[in-house]
Amino acid sequence: MTMIDIEIIVNGAKRAVRTEPHRKLLKVLREDLNLTGTKDGCSQGDCGACLVIMDGKAVNSCLVLAAQADGAEIITVEGLAENGELSNLQQAFAERWGFQCGFCTPGMLISSYALLLTNPDPSEEEIKRALAGNLCRCTGYKPILDSVQMAAETTKEKNI
Ligand code: FES
Ligand code: FES
Repeated sequence: MTMIDIEIIVNGAKRAVRTEPHRKLLKVLREDLNLTGTKDGCSQGDCGACLVIMDGKAVNSCLVLAAQADGAEIITVEGLAENGELSNLQQAFAERWGFQCGFCTPGMLISSYALLLTNPDPSEEEIKRALAGNLCRCTGYKPILDSVQMAAETTKEKNI
């Protein structure tokens, strides 16, 4: 079996991994690096539970091969907390009940984080577009929209 050595920067720390080249970044994160916040909902790019930030953009980690991630900078949901405290965005999800079972929440947070990085004051339509690739079977989506709106409002003076 062919193995490759890759190096990725995950949540600010350099991590070296030996893996099969076709293995998914999602598996590398969850199984090799024990970052299980990133979820495996469908394994085929349909649900958004596996989203991470890769070189500044939200990507479905179930569609990224380990070989493609070599040298990349990755932020997972674990990387959103600041000094062990929930980020403004995470706090807004908690306060506005932006989750129920929580399975979709890491992906929702990553999509919202990516949106607010480039658009700190999004309209409702822009939030809906940003979350179009995220499926939730519990919340009905309204509390999630409210959470992102609250995060945008409270982030105007602070960093997300
Ligand atoms: S697990 Fe990747 S999109 Fe569903
Ligand atoms: S909170 Fe359960 S899937 Fe979204």
